[in-house]
Amino acid sequence: MNEHTPVTRAPAANEQAKTKNLVREYYGKVLTSSDDLKTSACCTPGALPTGLKAALANVHEEVRAKYYGCGFVAPEHLEGARILDLGSGSGQDAYVLAQMVGPKGKVVGVDMTAEQLEVARRHQEWHSKRFGYCCSNVQFVEGYIEELDKLGLEPASFDVIVSNCVINLSPDKAAVLAGARSLLKPGGEMYFADVYSDRRLPAGLKDDPVLLGECLGGALYWGDFIEIARAAGFADARLVTARPLSVDDPAQAAKVGAARFFSATYRLFNISDLEATCEDYGQAVVYNGGIAGHPDVLELDNGSRFDTGKVVPVCGNTFHILTQSRLAPFFTPVGSFATHYGRFASCGSKSPVGGGESAVASVVVPGASGGSCCS
Ligand SMILES: C[S@@+](CC[C@H](N)C(=O)[O-])C[C@H]1O[C@@H](n2cnc3c(N)ncnc32)[C@H](O)[C@@H]1O
Repeated sequence: MNEHTPVTRAPAANEQAKTKNLVREYYGKVLTSSDDLKTSACCTPGALPTGLKAALANVHEEVRAKYYGCGFVAPEHLEGARILDLGSGSGQDAYVLAQMVGPKGKVVGVDMTAEQLEVARRHQEWHSKRFGYCCSNVQFVEGYIEELDKLGLEPASFDVIVSNCVINLSPDKAAVLAGARSLLKPGGEMYFADVYSDRRLPAGLKDDPVLLGECLGGALYWGDFIEIARAAGFADARLVTARPLSVDDPAQAAKVGAARFFSATYRLFNISDLEATCEDYGQAVVYNGGIAGHPDVLELDNGSRFDTGKVVPVCGNTFHILTQSRLAPFFTPVGSFATHYGRFASCGSKSPVGGGESAVASVVVPGASGGSCCS
């Protein structure tokens, strides 16, 4: 595939197999822990959000040592939820989320690399004992995230699908998003951290084992990601956070040239009413509080902040999200879709680059410098 090939077209089967083999080798054999990473792409620097710190302290050290994620994938209000983790690796996010969904919820992790799955599965009982659960609420399934329909998972059965630094590694990102959408309940969401570039990358980069393995060579140009998401039925991708990544290793930097990379967290709601643009129907919502950890303010994305008790004007899409998702019980909607008043003025940015559709300086935090920020 080159920069002129439509990004929604699947690569040939042999090309896909080549990419998967390179990635499996990297995560199964080359890396033994996050100390082995050569760049800061598959790392999560910075302070942990409140609530995650305690949950992370309950995760086994071997699982944590093999964590290669690039963001936090724990959206609000997960109690009792069914969560699917695409590319669950050694299981850190799955075990953190298992505590957030509680004993009545469930987390299913999917990964293709036997070595990663072995670590994740070996510590299952240890974690359920640590959490004080009678039995494990986590399951790890071996498989490809491009073939989610082959894993025996019930369609439309998940509240949330997370993924942490994985989809960039996939040779068929359109298939991943389409498969994920069909596993989400109506109103459910994909909430995931990944690596994006500020431009379409030369095709050769994704064949470089280190660049691909370190989540750079297969990174999507963010604008193509928005298109792929739309084609999969996620009309309105919402950017939550973004930060620039540095490629300081001289050998890797020479290969990527002028391309810039970002770690970004997006949320994609499975709501068929969503439009491609934010439109103004004169609506508003009031956040009534009540979501654990968010007594005073709830931030849906980089452009939507809701102070408790305040009437906040919203676009039609945000209105749909806050009346059709699991967040609906915490909001009072005001208005209807009866009259259209034109384009909604401020809907946040979809670009992690900070210069695309509109700047997102407020959500870009300084990236770590040096080789691997995990070391
Ligand atoms: C960068 S690591 C991230 C692992 C985990 N999410 C974490 O945060 O530690 C990427 C993981 O995705 C898995 N993976 C990559 N491509 C995949 C694919 N096409 N299907 C299934 N798993 C895949 C790899 O085996 C690896 O465990």
